[in-house]
Amino acid sequence: MTFDEGSVNGCVRVAAVGDVHLDADVLGRYRPALEHIGDKADMLLLAGDLTRHGTADEAHCVAEEFGGLAVPVIAILGNHDHHCDQPAEVTKVLEDGGITVLECSGTVLDVDGVRVGVAGTKGFGGGFAGACASEFGEPEMKAFTRHSRELAERFGAALSALDADVRIALTHYSPVPETLLGEPLEIYPFLGSYLLAQAIDATPGVGLAVHGHAHAGSERGTTPGGVPVRNVAHPVIKQAYNVYQLSSVLTPA
Ligand SMILES: [Fe+2]
Ligand SMILES: [Fe+2]
Repeated sequence: MTFDEGSVNGCVRVAAVGDVHLDADVLGRYRPALEHIGDKADMLLLAGDLTRHGTADEAHCVAEEFGGLAVPVIAILGNHDHHCDQPAEVTKVLEDGGITVLECSGTVLDVDGVRVGVAGTKGFGGGFAGACASEFGEPEMKAFTRHSRELAERFGAALSALDADVRIALTHYSPVPETLLGEPLEIYPFLGSYLLAQAIDATPGVGLAVHGHAHAGSERGTTPGGVPVRNVAHPVIKQAYNVYQLSSVLTPA
């Protein structure tokens, strides 16, 4: 399966947005554009930072804004959604609202007979080749780096376990530095990790990688293995969601 943003017919249409940072004061900002999403997309991916501080009240706003749509909604949490140390509560509110929440796990959708697998993780930082953290020295440094590595490993296992014709990688932190272009170079290690790209590239059949987190970054990048990467943070795409198309012209395994 190939990635194509130009054609429309015979494609799996993937809508995505991240970093909507909802609270009561912005409730309704996205909903008008979401009401007819079924005409434009087959699914909606939410790339984390759905709330501002990760409270249950804010999560209720997310469920109200993104629940009950005409297409399946699949989300992962971002760092903001962890701020109040209530990720389980936030997840429950979203799931009760009909949103599938992934964390080092996956789900498979049937889109007109095409099995589309989505695996997701928040991911974490650590940086990129030649300028990255390592599990060395103080316990705090080891813990920081270990968290990134363990999530990437579990995410990679979830991605490869998908029984699907095409796979989509959904993360909050970026797998590549290209989509961080516009952010200060000094904070790249807090915006993503090359370990996520390694996990994506280690799995055959990944047609698209979607992330958020980098509000001042750029939309487009590619993993070293050639998988298209899209930063869908709302401040980057500047609309309720972008739609990406995966060609459904399948080649026999
Ligand atoms: Fe954000
Ligand atoms: Fe974030």
